[in-house]
Parts: sequence; structure tokens; C-alpha cells
Amino acid sequence: MNQSLHHIQQAYDASAEAYAEKFLNELEHKPLDRQLLERFAASVGNAARVLDLGCGPGHTTSYLASLGLDPLGLDLAPGMIAQANGSFPSLRFEVGDFSDLRYPDQAFSGCLAFYCIVHLRREDLTPVFREMRRVLCAGGLLLLSFHVGSTPVIADDFLQSGCSLEFHPFPVDVIESALDEAGFVDVEPLVREPYPTEYPSQRCYLFARRGNDE
Ligand SMILES: C[S@@+](CC[C@H](N)C(=O)[O-])C[C@H]1O[C@@H](n2cnc3c(N)ncnc32)[C@H](O)[C@@H]1O
Repeated sequence: MNQSLHHIQQAYDASAEAYAEKFLNELEHKPLDRQLLERFAASVGNAARVLDLGCGPGHTTSYLASLGLDPLGLDLAPGMIAQANGSFPSLRFEVGDFSDLRYPDQAFSGCLAFYCIVHLRREDLTPVFREMRRVLCAGGLLLLSFHVGSTPVIADDFLQSGCSLEFHPFPVDVIESALDEAGFVDVEPLVREPYPTEYPSQRCYLFARRGNDE
């Protein structure tokens, strides 16, 4: 299946309410996610500008704000951004595509990308990571999460939205190579087993720093 950006956007628009219902409070039950977000926040520093890419209903954006950061949530699907604005009216959210960011070079101290690369193909990874690197300041930090694996999974009726979506898990070394190609350094992956309530795939969390320009 070759999914267009338009198809992905429509699927998340159609499932935005159900997605928010299922995931808005998930961090309460995910101690490792909270711990890694706290490490991310401590590392970028108080009040740092950070970009939450593919923010969905905004729960990670809100958590970053609660840790003292100045986050901007970005998502392709206007329906997701409507959910985020409804749940967190004091925070900033924008509709946009992370493969073509409209922000200047080095605009952010950190980028969070939780499960938003799940629809990319291998060949899309490096250009997308280059775009993330472009908007990070010198020494800026990326925290990424993704499903580990090598076989695409098709959800025929994603969250009963009537839309099908194809998800692409990746081997950890494939993501490491793409980050290296894009100019990230100090790549530090951590893999955990799924919780009983989650989709049964291993999860990888990965910190990486923007390398210096050549
Ligand atoms: C699996 S959800 C993850 C949402 C949230 N980060 C979380 O952890 O629950 C993937 C999100 O990425 C967004 N997304 C997919 N492709 C995108 C793109 N090219 N630019 C911006 N957002 C994108 C989708 O609209 C969706 O909200």
C-alpha cells in the first residue's frame, strides 16, 4: 500500500475523537515515557522552545509544558489539532507537515517525535530526520519513539474510523543509520516490551543530538 499524505491526514481526522479518548491520559500509566520526557526536559533546560512533531491530541505537548518547557505541537490532521486545542486551550498547536517544516533553521532546542514516523517508508526517513535537524539549534536534542519490527501492519478499520492505515515498524539499526545519514550524533536507543494493554510490539525510544555542521 502506498499511502498519500492526504490519506494519512483523512484517517487521523476521522479517528481523532476516538484516538483522544484512548490515548489522552496514557502517560498516567507509562512511567518510562514520563521518565524519558523528564530527562528530555532537564536536558534542554527550563523554558526551552521545543517542537512536538505529530503531537496527536496533545498529551505529550501538555506534559512538556508541565515540565516547564515552551512547547509547540504540530500535526498533519486538523482534527487532531482541534482535539489538542479543546483539551489544552492555553497551549500552542499548529497544523503542518513534519517533512516540510515552516520554521526557520535552529528555531528549537528540542524535538519530540513520539510514534509519528509510523507511516514513513525507509527512503523517507533520512529526509524527514534532516528536516528535524534543520530546525534544531546547535546541540539540540531529539527524542523519538517508534515500533520495532520489519513487517508492515495494516489496520483495516483504524479505531473504527472506516479508514485503513498501514503502519511501518523499523529495526533499530535502520533508524540509527537514517539518523546518522541526517547528521545526528550521540544516538542512544532504549527498547522495552509492550505493556499488556498495548499493541503487542516492542517500542524503541531514542535520544539523538544535532551534530555540528561539516
Ligand atoms: C500514531 S499517532 C501519534 C500521536 C502522538 N504523538 C502519540 O504519541 O500518541 C501519529 C500522528 O502523527 C501525525 N502525522 C503523520 N504524518 C505526519 C506528518 N507528515 N506531519 C505531521 N504529523 C504527521 C498523525 O496525524 C498522527 O496524529
